[in-house]
Amino acid sequence: MTKYISFCLLTLALLTGYYFYQYNGSQSLSYDDEQEELKSHITIRFSHVVAENTPKGLAAQKFAELVSEKTKGQVKVEIYQNGVLYSDDDEYEALQNGDIQMIAPSFSKLIDTVPEWKVLDLPFIFERETQAKAVFTGETSEQLLSMITDPKVTGLGFWSNGFKQMTSNKTALLEPDDFQGQTFRVMPGPIIAEQFRLLKANTIVMSFNEVYQVLETKKIDGQENTLSNIYSNRLYKVQQHLTISNHGYLGYAVMVNQEFWENLPDDIQKKIQQAMIETTKWNMKESVHMNAQQLQEIQKNSPIQIHYLTEQQKQKWLQTFQPLYQKVENEVGNELIKQIQFPSDEER
Ligand code: LMR
Repeated sequence: MTKYISFCLLTLALLTGYYFYQYNGSQSLSYDDEQEELKSHITIRFSHVVAENTPKGLAAQKFAELVSEKTKGQVKVEIYQNGVLYSDDDEYEALQNGDIQMIAPSFSKLIDTVPEWKVLDLPFIFERETQAKAVFTGETSEQLLSMITDPKVTGLGFWSNGFKQMTSNKTALLEPDDFQGQTFRVMPGPIIAEQFRLLKANTIVMSFNEVYQVLETKKIDGQENTLSNIYSNRLYKVQQHLTISNHGYLGYAVMVNQEFWENLPDDIQKKIQQAMIETTKWNMKESVHMNAQQLQEIQKNSPIQIHYLTEQQKQKWLQTFQPLYQKVENEVGNELIKQIQFPSDEER
């Protein structure tokens, strides 16, 4: 009897041991599989402040598609638009900290970090789409990106939105004197603020996502932006005058967190860079088309009065802005100004 009980206990112990071995074995096996899968999937969290249906919103989507296609799904770009994660004020810091991996702020907002980029914000420095294309895709773009000295970020490229226009709730903005005493929203950046100061106007710096509300409640009189941003953020609905002035250019620096970038395998970096080159080419064409089409939509859908700046009026604005040209020339030199005005690789 004792022998029989011992035999049963031994059998039970062996079976229990076998069960635990199998169970734990299979558990750790599936855990390893999961870990492998996690390692092979890289996620890029890409944050921006505009709507989906804008040159930057669409470029971000195109980039995500191309990255997924080229890496066969290994790299996933998650897009957070309309400032849902971070606004203009905090997206750069979030990128530096690695809380997000990519952003594409306008270069105006980065002048504190890259002082030479002041040149890009000079009024009327850009006059032709072919010029903007050459600056943002050619040799000059590489030179501009190499001016980023922040060790926490790397520049991957430039995207375009297009030429900026002026709007106001008070008067048509045609002569420099028309600006006097009016208050305009500006995005962060010293050159844009100085441009309005020379026009004897007041400025308030604020995030893009706040502009509609302050215009609607008439806390400010006007603002400057591209037709696409004026359309997608419905700013035209709360303004009475729109001047097609093409006085400034809104472009974006696409940036990635440096540590994240350095830790990517070489082949993945190359595929992402290729996706960036293809997206940039696509974005340059798409932004021109989009701004033209959205001007028609604004014309169709609102009573806003649309004015076109004449060559004579433009010359008067330029004269007003001369001190700003002089200041920037003293700070960054005439060579860079000339290079942006007349890029050697422009296809005319
Ligand atoms: C703005 O602040 O008006 C723009 O820079 C927004 C954007 O990203 O296009």
